[in-house]
Amino acid sequence: MTGNGGLAASAGRIDRPLVLVGLMGVGKSTIGRRLANALDRSFVDADEEIERAADRIVSEIFEAHGEAYFRDGERRVIARLMDEGHGVIATGGGAFVDDETRALVLEKGIAIWLDCDLETLVERTSRKNTRPLLKSGEPRAILQGLKEKRSPAYAQAQIRVVTDDGPHEATVNRILEELATWR
Ligand code: S3P
Repeated sequence: MTGNGGLAASAGRIDRPLVLVGLMGVGKSTIGRRLANALDRSFVDADEEIERAADRIVSEIFEAHGEAYFRDGERRVIARLMDEGHGVIATGGGAFVDDETRALVLEKGIAIWLDCDLETLVERTSRKNTRPLLKSGEPRAILQGLKEKRSPAYAQAQIRVVTDDGPHEATVNRILEELATWR
């Protein structure tokens, strides 16, 4: 139960896939699952789908074949997911930076940029060491660089919601509010 049935009902009239974009650690998968639940829609995680298709985890793909190979697979998998009629799709942090993927998502879906401050990202990403891009140096400096470089792409998303350290429920509610007034 979410206690936001009215909002969910007005947001529910949108029939395009809702695509969560933003940096690593911002909470795309967790928020995505909860958003799908609130809207009674299906959820899919693009990184998990890439891992399934490659039969390897993301860090192994990076290690064995490099980032360019991962990006090719990511582009193909997201194109397929956009066609499959999923309700909510969580993407990996680099997906929406790809020109082709971004154009496709903006055309066929609604991109929701989850944004938050650097400190929160550093703290959240430190809980797992599965992210290949954070292994090549000091995670804070890498995240700061990615934030600067990628924000112009993320800013093209139709919706931006700032997440802070508050409960996920609050972020989901803010997304539902934005969707309810979406035209
Ligand atoms: C990446 C983010 C990761 C994963 C890969 C590359 C990125 O996903 O796709 O490690 O380029 O920002 P999350 O954003 O879910 O961590």
